[in-house]
Amino acid sequence: MDKIIINGGKKLSGIVRISGSKNSALPILFASLLTDEPVIIKNVPSLADINTTIAFLNFIGKPAVKIGNTVKIDKSEKYKHIAPYDLVRKMRASVLIMGPLLARLRKVSVSLPGGCAIGARPIDIHLDAFKKLGADIEVKKGFVHTSSKGLIGNTIKFRFPSVGATENILLASVLAKGKTKILNAAKEPEIEDLTNFLNAMGAKVNGAGTSIIVIDGVEKLHGAAYEVISDRIEAATYLIAAAITKGEIVLENANPTHIKAVIDKLKKSGMMIETSSAAIKAKWTKPLKPQNISTAVYPGYPTDVQAQWMALMALTKGKSEIKETVFENRFMHAAELLRLGANLKIEGQSVFATGVESLSGAPVMASDLRAGAALVLACLAAKGKSVISRVYHLDRGYEFLEKKFKKLGADIKRQR
Ligand code: UD1
Repeated sequence: MDKIIINGGKKLSGIVRISGSKNSALPILFASLLTDEPVIIKNVPSLADINTTIAFLNFIGKPAVKIGNTVKIDKSEKYKHIAPYDLVRKMRASVLIMGPLLARLRKVSVSLPGGCAIGARPIDIHLDAFKKLGADIEVKKGFVHTSSKGLIGNTIKFRFPSVGATENILLASVLAKGKTKILNAAKEPEIEDLTNFLNAMGAKVNGAGTSIIVIDGVEKLHGAAYEVISDRIEAATYLIAAAITKGEIVLENANPTHIKAVIDKLKKSGMMIETSSAAIKAKWTKPLKPQNISTAVYPGYPTDVQAQWMALMALTKGKSEIKETVFENRFMHAAELLRLGANLKIEGQSVFATGVESLSGAPVMASDLRAGAALVLACLAAKGKSVISRVYHLDRGYEFLEKKFKKLGADIKRQR
């Protein structure tokens, strides 16, 4: 298994281009199942989850290929309606196959995704909503079998604004009969991106980006060409890299409004941040002050940037509280940060950090994608050599990670 080796302690400086959003590209690729016509998706990052999705589309019957950062999906006719465990276990987002296939084939069987390092992650909100659209659901032998005689629009109120459930119901209802209203919908930028793509295919969706989304079902969708938005979580990670290494980094192809919550915290802590419509500059000029965070749904502080903030607070003099409210068990990185010399105390939903003067390199292990990112940041700042194992987690979400950090001046390499 690959490892990442970092000799830390270098100030990072320079320009980094932010890749296309993984969390937008995944539902958009699954949305291609809603039409038989060709689809072209641009600005798709080269990541393990994207490869899994392309393999998935091909398995289902969509001839999809990725050339550079463009995915071309050819016209298609016949589809399978089963998503086996081997594909679903690799990536939880595979459950997004349900919406489009239920709409098009009227039945779909998906292996139930298990829990993961960050919690149990049930899909009850997705399933309850499919029932409201008229689907029958049966869970048997590890599979969810879903069928319907034709989906019919309805008003659905989510008990929590789940990102995945909002996407799955959007994907199902664009071809349902009549009007669907999602109340308490997720407002994340990825929802708006998916909606823009669906509308480009001829769907009638309004209100994305607010908590009420209204979908007027149409008979058929057509092919489209579309460009995915940039990855706000990758962008936030590089901004924190500038802060933790006392450097100066300019992000290109980054949308500052999508990570306002992170930018505000960085500014409050003392980082100099300048933004324009598609670029963000972060410069360290003075020792930072600790800042508490509490994760929340968009536009709140993103849970996907909680681990990276913890790494920064571990090295910021003073005390801070990092509170996780979205996932139940998302502090696996804390124990690894302790191995680098951090002073952190876990108490229920919070981690209390007391910033230390310096961290020192050590062998550490990535337990999930964003925990891995936090370790990379901490190791970039730590004195001496660190070896990060279970790098496959990072390969799910950070395109050209070593290459980008190397260009910014980091001493980082991959050992195969
Ligand atoms: C998506 C993102 C992930 C991000 C998360 C929250 C993708 C591919 N992944 O994940 O990176 O961390 O949003 O911003 O876009 N829940 C239920 N029942 C459900 C669905 C969710 O209880 O049916 C709970 C989950 O266990 C979790 C919380 O709701 O505690 C948030 O989940 P959700 O918003 O659905 O996240 P994902 O779509 O899985």
